[in-house]
Amino acid sequence: MKTFFRPPEGGIQTWVLLTVWCAFMTSAMAEPGTQVISAKPLRATALQGGVFERCESCNGCHENIYREHVGSMHSQSFANPVFLAQYTQEVLPQARFSGDAFRDARSCTACHAPAAHKQSGARLVRPDPATARSSSVTCDFCHTIVGFKGDEAGNANYIVEPGPIKFGPFQTKTDQHHQYSELQTKSEFCAICHSVRNRYGLDIKSTYAEWQESPHAREGIQCQDCHMSVDGFLTEGRPVHASGVAAFMSLGSAPQRSTLYTHRFQGARSYSQIEGAIQLALRDLPQAIRPGDVVPVTLLVDNSRTGHKMPSGSVELRFLWLDVYAEIDGQRVDLVPAELPAGYDVTGASPELGQQILAGGVPDGRRIYRTILADRRGKPTLASHLAKSIIFDNRLNAAEVRAETYELALPASEASRAMIVATMYYVPYPDSFANRLGLPHAEPVQIATTSKEILLVKP
Ligand code: HEC
Ligand code: HEC
Ligand code: HEC
Ligand code: HEC
Ligand code: HEC
Repeated sequence: MKTFFRPPEGGIQTWVLLTVWCAFMTSAMAEPGTQVISAKPLRATALQGGVFERCESCNGCHENIYREHVGSMHSQSFANPVFLAQYTQEVLPQARFSGDAFRDARSCTACHAPAAHKQSGARLVRPDPATARSSSVTCDFCHTIVGFKGDEAGNANYIVEPGPIKFGPFQTKTDQHHQYSELQTKSEFCAICHSVRNRYGLDIKSTYAEWQESPHAREGIQCQDCHMSVDGFLTEGRPVHASGVAAFMSLGSAPQRSTLYTHRFQGARSYSQIEGAIQLALRDLPQAIRPGDVVPVTLLVDNSRTGHKMPSGSVELRFLWLDVYAEIDGQRVDLVPAELPAGYDVTGASPELGQQILAGGVPDGRRIYRTILADRRGKPTLASHLAKSIIFDNRLNAAEVRAETYELALPASEASRAMIVATMYYVPYPDSFANRLGLPHAEPVQIATTSKEILLVKP
């Protein structure tokens, strides 16, 4: 059974029962050094009136963690221009037209500016320089999450208890704001914000559900094991963690710890994890071929380092594309995917959908991995909060190694060598999204590449 604190929604009776239950669990179940968290009920006042500390106040002692956090997307979640563009141009202005639109607008900041959201009593949070600075997924917000409402973590159903106690992963006690919380060490903690279901009941961010179906989940590998390890993914199947002290103080000292968790939270958007996350390999190429031949080329796309589909998260925006070509005598010859899903062209979706959404961001004839969402009229949309269905999804599964087959039609040439080159690019959002919201076009980021030479034999 799960021992982390997960209070049900309910009235005072529930809290009383829960208190008794927790007290019982603490005495009956806890092993030495572990503790069932929050044996006391949450006070209603703590939920509304508690004040979250700003990350700067943690910097005094946790300077390493602070430095990593400042470089992470968590510290940008509200000030992020891509978020703000959609929030202020497409969501906030609609809020006064319907109850649904108002609730959508109010929901955004529950994850993107959770402390401001909570402190404002879940009213609309408007961006201003003051909220932008103090609002993001902050240190104190994460470390005062004590549970989530209901049975499943998601849609910002966190229960937070701001105050002097900071919940964390250490099972052995120190006298500094210590509280062990099993939840902090589990994927459910991340799912609170990384699982999103919209007003139509459509799962628009399913990273947690994708992880649940992965071989990594079966082996007990949590989000934290990859995203908070030194490399940002598993090295030879295992997380590599930092060690040392978690706090530096002028008075007193913190113990040496064998396992420390980095707070960079690299992801595809952060550009730092991308290198090496997906691997490409050309397989079974013929040693030598003749000009004029048509040869099959197999490319293995290896997503085994990822514990969920790729892309994941904001799937309406993110996509990967493959560029495969041969270089013969300095001439570029594009390779064409040999097998296409029925009814779909090489962009990965039917032609009109494909180009409408991408708005020319990708050259023709490239294999694309992505999801296409549609609105209630069945039209493709990049506004995931208004999507009603998923009409296309060919993303790479967790731990999948997918074989893509191509054909190389060699020109009749005098050349003696051909170099086959395959490159995978990641694009955080398509040009059509940038055009609509006045954002700079997102440069494709090269995340993997491989090449191989073949000899051309004279006929
Ligand atoms: C997105 C949520 C999140 C944010 C933001 C965050 N942390 Fe953490 N932190 C965690 C989780 C989760 C763990 C434990 C990981 C585990 O045990 O698997 C952790 C671990 C820690 C630890 C234990 C020591 C260690 O390094 O493992 C300390 C101390 C800590 N965090 C402090 C901070 C401070 C200070 C900040 C801001 C500068 C911060 N955290 C921001 C989620 C967060
Ligand atoms: C005065 C110094 C100091 C400040 C300021 C400080 N911490 Fe800590 N913190 C510590 C020490 C010492 C530890 C114990 C480290 C250990 O046990 O290895 C600690 C441990 C933690 C842990 C791990 C708790 C556990 O039991 O797993 C978390 C989480 C944490 N701090 C979060 C924060 C956050 C968030 C802030 C800012 C709001 C903050 N700290 C500010 C000194 C400080
Ligand atoms: C309080 C809500 C919240 C919690 C809890 C949370 N996250 Fe996040 N996370 C966010 C938001 C919001 C963003 C998006 C920031 C942006 O891009 O504007 C984000 C971004 C990220 C990114 C960066 C994605 C990229 O493309 O670069 C990673 C990786 C990530 N989170 C992993 C985690 C993991 C792992 C956990 C659990 C240990 C976690 N998060 C817990 C809200 C949260
Ligand atoms: C086995 C390791 C592993 C596990 C487990 C894992 N991730 Fe990831 N995650 C990755 C890698 C690798 C990437 C790809 C980064 C890249 O391409 O740069 C990634 C990317 C992401 C992204 C960015 C996706 C995108 O397309 O922009 C988010 C958000 C994220 N992970 C969140 C999570 C959450 C939440 C969990 C737990 C439910 C989790 N991850 C579990 C390894 C892992
Ligand atoms: C339950 C939590 C949650 C809610 C509610 C939520 N988001 Fe997010 N949002 C996230 C997470 C987590 C990510 C990061 C996923 C990733 O990196 O792919 C994200 C990423 C984004 C991005 C991509 C940012 C980038 O830099 O590429 C945009 C845009 C965005 N959200 C807009 C919104 C808007 C607008 C709303 C309200 C209608 C909203 N979000 C509501 C959790 C949430």
